[in-house]
Amino acid sequence: MRVAVLRERRAAETRVAATPETVKKLQGLGCTVAVEAGAGLASGIPDAAYREAGAEIAADPAAALAGAGIVLAVRAPEAAELALIPRGALLIGTLQADAEAAKAYAAAGVDACAMEMLPRITRAQSMDVLSSQANLAGYRAVIEAADAFDRGFPMLMTAAGTIPAANVFIMGAGVAGLQAIATARRLGGRVSATDVRPAAKEEIKSLGASFVGYEDEESKAAQTAGGYAKQLSAEFYAKQAEVVAAHIAKQDIVVTTALVQGRKAPTLVTEAMVRSMKPGSVIVDIASDAGGNVALTKPGEAITTEGGVKILGYSNWPGRIAGAASQLYARNLLTFLTTFWDKEGKKPALKEDDEIVKGVALTRGGAVVHPSLASA
Ligand code: NAI
Repeated sequence: MRVAVLRERRAAETRVAATPETVKKLQGLGCTVAVEAGAGLASGIPDAAYREAGAEIAADPAAALAGAGIVLAVRAPEAAELALIPRGALLIGTLQADAEAAKAYAAAGVDACAMEMLPRITRAQSMDVLSSQANLAGYRAVIEAADAFDRGFPMLMTAAGTIPAANVFIMGAGVAGLQAIATARRLGGRVSATDVRPAAKEEIKSLGASFVGYEDEESKAAQTAGGYAKQLSAEFYAKQAEVVAAHIAKQDIVVTTALVQGRKAPTLVTEAMVRSMKPGSVIVDIASDAGGNVALTKPGEAITTEGGVKILGYSNWPGRIAGAASQLYARNLLTFLTTFWDKEGKKPALKEDDEIVKGVALTRGGAVVHPSLASA
């Protein structure tokens, strides 16, 4: 079974779907691996490292994909690449597919698995690409906030006087937010956080941050069975905004990570809230790719407002720490493959009735099979 690893071509994508470590392990499963030239460069992995690990370096997508039975990707392949994937091949990536894209995979005869649709269950944790990438995004956001901030996180006591600790507010305490809290605490910031899911409050406190937020009957049921935040009413969001507005005015750093699955990210920081912050304050919007949590975020860019507040709205936060992100992402994919592997046949064996497979499989044998896309 030949595994192809392509160079990612989407804008701002710096990650790669396999590392020398996973290339070796794929060979251990009985595969041969072809990596497109330059695929790992933006993650700090030269072609030579893949070659040393036993991979063939392919000059272009056509050479990498010829005869491939498995294609590993970070993002969805472009149309020209999809056309080169052999019929019957398994494609694994964060495909972000809509009904039209799913139809295109079916028409190409490619069995596509969208890893971002993995159920958030204990058994799936080690293949959970959303978690591994969000964790690093949360870390990176705080590091970039510290870099953009012109003071410092810890209280600095010097002979010339004392610089107070930075007030850091994390909005959304899921995987990214919890890592952001831990990182900001390690840097010495005075950290508070908010979320709408009731379980998050205890998690925030257990990391040593204080909880700031609005709670009512509606927020007691704010979590879906899958663990995600629900879309809440306009009234709830207005009350939440009232509580956080006064808090934000006192913050030096705000990191926003709030997502609602399948929808635009909620706007948590309004223009007025940004205006209330002191010059030199920094806002990092990790949710920028989902529309952003901050009214003034310019997706993909860093801006400074007239009031001197910096807003970092870069795209692809995990891609800004590409070496680590690729390492974890590649391991996630390898774990998925090894979990559903036919050792004797040395080929993938995706059990159709397995909860994890049902969650990620978009197409099989030329048909769209995912319930959320099949009827569309
Ligand atoms: P996410 O990326 O979808 O959202 C980030 C955070 O934003 C969430 O905590 C959410 O509650 C919060 N949020 C949404 N709207 C908000 C608002 N208006 N104000 C403040 N916060 C808001 O979430 P993530 O990080 O993917 O985690 C989702 C859930 O999945 C969590 O319950 C987490 O514990 C669970 N999980 C389970 C795993 C497993 O068992 N395999 C692995 C990873 C996460």
